[in-house]
Amino acid sequence: MKSVKDYIISIPDFPSKGIIFRDVTSVLESPEGYALAIDELNKLLDGVDYDLIAGTESRGFIFGAPLAYMNKKGFIPVRKKGKLPRETVEMSYDLEYGSATIEIHKDAIKPGDKVVLVDDLIATGGTIQAAAKLVEELGGEVVKMIFLIELTNLGGRKLLEGYDVASVVQYE
Ligand code: PRP
Ligand code: ADE
Ligand code: MG
Repeated sequence: MKSVKDYIISIPDFPSKGIIFRDVTSVLESPEGYALAIDELNKLLDGVDYDLIAGTESRGFIFGAPLAYMNKKGFIPVRKKGKLPRETVEMSYDLEYGSATIEIHKDAIKPGDKVVLVDDLIATGGTIQAAAKLVEELGGEVVKMIFLIELTNLGGRKLLEGYDVASVVQYE
């Protein structure tokens, strides 16, 4: 029986020299790989009490939306700047190979909502920390952060101290 790691292809020096890119498209292209990835992520939600799932554009949508559907929860897209039509809150952050700004609709989260954050991968933790700050700015509570892939050497866990962080597959 294959594990999720068996479906991930690693590409050296993409998108820039020194980065080993852990590619999830090879997971998605396989019906068995994609189903296994979603099922393994879903196991990380066992026993978690939450109201909403929020996923970060773009790869966080691919994993967050099916989890929301199967658990009958709403899905909140955390989008890159300039895409959401209603009033938003925004946050800028650095990641392993650049910087970006993300936004959430102001009315997407109500004070007291318990939110699970989902992304394909955690590297420095910058993306998910920014998403967590936006949820908290709107009065939500981040009860769990889940990732398919964790790059353990980039300090994400340290940055996210105090949050409940879990991942399916780890790489040094
Ligand atoms: C990648 C990945 C995570 C983030 C992790 O997204 O999908 O969201 O980087 O890095 P961090 O922990 O250092 O923040 P990216 O912004 O490259 O864009 P994409 O999801 O649209 O491909
Ligand atoms: N996002 C940030 N770092 C990454 C990496 N090494 N591989 C794939 N996605 C990433
Ligand atoms: Mg991303």
